Amino acid sequence: MKINRRSFLKRALAAGSMAVGTGSLVSACSGLRRADLPDQDLSKPISGQLDQIGGAILYYASLAPSGHNAQPWFVRVVKNNEWIIGLDPQRRLPEVDPDNREALLSLGAFAENLSLAAGTYGYKAEMEIIAGNPFEQDIIKVALINTGTIDYPLERLKRRMTVKQGYLPDEIKKEDIRALSEPLKGRLFYFPKGTEHAKCTEEGAIENFRIQVNRDNAQQELVRWVRLSNKDAERYRDGLTVGGMEIRGFKGWFVRNFINPQDFMKPSFRKQSIDLTAKLARQGGGWLVITSEGQTVVDLVDSGRRFERMALMARERKLAIQPMTQYLEEKEGLQQIAANHAAGVVPQFLLRVGYLKNYPNPVSLRRPVDWFVKP
Ligand SMILES: Cc1cc2nc3c(=O)[nH]c(=O)nc-3n(C[C@H](O)[C@H](O)[C@H](O)COP(=O)(O)O)c2cc1C
Repeated sequence: MKINRRSFLKRALAAGSMAVGTGSLVSACSGLRRADLPDQDLSKPISGQLDQIGGAILYYASLAPSGHNAQPWFVRVVKNNEWIIGLDPQRRLPEVDPDNREALLSLGAFAENLSLAAGTYGYKAEMEIIAGNPFEQDIIKVALINTGTIDYPLERLKRRMTVKQGYLPDEIKKEDIRALSEPLKGRLFYFPKGTEHAKCTEEGAIENFRIQVNRDNAQQELVRWVRLSNKDAERYRDGLTVGGMEIRGFKGWFVRNFINPQDFMKPSFRKQSIDLTAKLARQGGGWLVITSEGQTVVDLVDSGRRFERMALMARERKLAIQPMTQYLEEKEGLQQIAANHAAGVVPQFLLRVGYLKNYPNPVSLRRPVDWFVKP
């Protein structure tokens, strides 16, 4: 990458004017964050097909996590209170998720948020899995039935986030594990740092990350979802921004202005990301593993829903959770896992867990509701 003095100044000035525009130096370094964009106005109907409540429910649903923040969902409004949640083929990650396993987990998290939000607006969201296999587009049929309010603090949906850095080494308290386990009914396992199982998971996570980063097609797929400039971030409102990747300070500013996504293909970049992942994998209080009984569409959507219910509780306990998924994506990792787990115990999430001293605010972007509601 060549930068001459003139273009350096031009870009530096552009970054400077951004700093004024968004009013904070931190934002100038890490780029466009969620708070820099206007929040969805929940007092107005969002699209021609949805009333105000429908729009609000889908806004909350869209705050769900997803692999590469690809937001693989679309929604079709069949009639006012009947919707289809679907999997958008343009938002699949075929290189790292060829079977749509993670796309369906993400759809499950979306469905869980939808159900919790619907409850607070007085509706029960009855859901039926209509897809017979993970490659169909229409996955869940939702019927909203007016049954009375079920309270849930929706702030939790707005404040949940994936945090990667700053994990403390403390072991996770028993009462916290008990609370997190509650929505997972015997399908959550905690391996405290330093235990044999935690060490194996740590090593496997690093090794499979290394394998994936060196796989050109997987790295190229990542490049497709990286949004380094504010212009791209605002245009797409998805993917991995500089803030989302927690590249902060001068480094963040530099990356936003002088690096382009294709630079992620360079050996030096790949090496840096492996080193960082190795450092992070060794931080924190250990690992959580979420398992399911099988790999059907029903199993995956259900696991995603339960994972989200758990993740929503983490912040108030000062717990950070980061999926580290490469172990479950690479051939080598999968073989190792299959050899060590009985049938009927299928790991779906590998999560690093740790306490934080200071919990940051969510930064990842979301598409507005009318971008993913289909006619
Ligand atoms: C199925 C799934 C897999 C994920 N895998 C990873 C991963 O391997 N590494 C990582 O840092 N984050 C991973 N994430 C977290 C997403 O990157 C994150 O949810 C997304 O960027 C949106 O950010 P947010 O969770 O802060 O809203 C995963 C999330 C889901 C739902």
